[in-house]
Amino acid sequence: MLPAMAEALELPPGPRLPGAIQTALWLTRSLPFLEDCRRRHGDLFTLRMAGFPPAVFACTPEAIRDIFAADGDTLCAGAARAPYFRPFFGDNALLTLDGAAHMARRRLMLPAFHGERMHAYGETMARAAERAIAEWPQGRPFALLPSFQRITQDVILESVFGVTDPARVELFRARLMAFIQRGASPLLLIPGLQRDLGPLSPWGRVVRAGREVDGLIHGELAARRARPAGEQGSDVLAMLLGARDEAGQPLDDQALRNELVTQLVAGHDTTAAALSWLMTHLLENPAALERAQAEALAAPASAEALAALPFLDAAMRESLRLQPIISNVGRWIRRPVTIAGRALPTRVSVSACIYLAHRDPASWPEPARFLPERFLPAGKKVDPYAWLPFGGGTRRCIGMAFAMYELKVVAATMLRSGHFTLPARGDKRPRLRSITYQPADRVTVVYRARAAGRSRAVPATNARVTL
Ligand code: HEM
Repeated sequence: MLPAMAEALELPPGPRLPGAIQTALWLTRSLPFLEDCRRRHGDLFTLRMAGFPPAVFACTPEAIRDIFAADGDTLCAGAARAPYFRPFFGDNALLTLDGAAHMARRRLMLPAFHGERMHAYGETMARAAERAIAEWPQGRPFALLPSFQRITQDVILESVFGVTDPARVELFRARLMAFIQRGASPLLLIPGLQRDLGPLSPWGRVVRAGREVDGLIHGELAARRARPAGEQGSDVLAMLLGARDEAGQPLDDQALRNELVTQLVAGHDTTAAALSWLMTHLLENPAALERAQAEALAAPASAEALAALPFLDAAMRESLRLQPIISNVGRWIRRPVTIAGRALPTRVSVSACIYLAHRDPASWPEPARFLPERFLPAGKKVDPYAWLPFGGGTRRCIGMAFAMYELKVVAATMLRSGHFTLPARGDKRPRLRSITYQPADRVTVVYRARAAGRSRAVPATNARVTL
């Protein structure tokens, strides 16, 4: 319900449509709806959706800087996410905590996601991609998205839990997918619909699938604790079990469960969607595809080398700009705040609108075009308030380095393996699945493997690519 107090306060303008219509527009065509709102109401506008407090959207770098610079007791990401995410990930999780508790948890978890740790996971990523590629049909259309989901699941299961036994991976996969699929409808993010009305009700099915995942996680925790100290491995779980806060305390089982479920869910669907868009954008731009393929073929066949390819890195960044996986990141206003010179009251939320910031011609000339050159030369400094696919400030995605490394290793492994063509112009419109956007045609391609030996390293000057 709209709190009466927030209603009485002056907020930036926005559509006058009834809340139910605004909700329907959000669920069915959120991106054109956001563009329309900006055109009609300017850079700071307010949406009012049924069942939610008013939500102010900001899309300029100045406004986004103010949002990301505010302290965690004034603008609270945890409180903004909690109504949707608490039932999935719990209260006591990095995603849903705020203020000092969030910072303490983040400090404890950061070492597991530090950029240098990625080297340990690179070979896992390349192997998962190779396994998937070996199963692709040749010469007839098929959808890549399910394959990307399989790869990113394998990667997260192995790098977070160290699960490699095929039977156990399949068990995890089945339970995890049941949990995600049952919770995938954006409608189920509406708190009023999160009611367990028995095993056949939509939310009842989510709750039961969640318990099955919990059972596996608690089993994994018990098995890990039973291992001798020297055999804990080097995965994320080992790091989290060994982590201590400033008072020397470890994470309790509930917190561990919450963080592990978060990583399982947040860590794979997002990355699979990002891979889908990267391949879609490359396939739609033959010159860019050719350049990326030539670069990948010329590189040594190590994950580290593939993750360092400059054109592929630029293509990945440009793909995340053109089609961010998440459209906006919200903060609950707990203390009055000024954003881009405008005072905003408490008890409403304010969002940095990633999608609109990425489509702003003032920051990105010809914003609708896929131009990887924007991000070249390698290492070019980019305004973090104009390019923000992973959010920002103290809440920036903790898995960002992990995801970007994985995107490049998997995409390069695929590009090296063979030729891709688009069978026909598929439906490339973004479809909202829970909170992520995926291409409607699930990246349907025709694939042919390269002749044996062609994906081995070749000198850059000899690289030839047949498309
Ligand atoms: C391409 C892939 C990914 C995208 C686009 C993405 C995007 C995001 C975004 C937009 C946020 C919110 C940031 C904010 O509110 O400012 C976020 C937060 C988060 N992400 Fe990711 N993410 C990806 C992959 C991952 C992976 C691989 C993991 C873990 C293995 C992960 C774990 C998290 C966590 C735990 C948070 C909460 C951080 C906090 O509140 O301190 N994400 N992500």
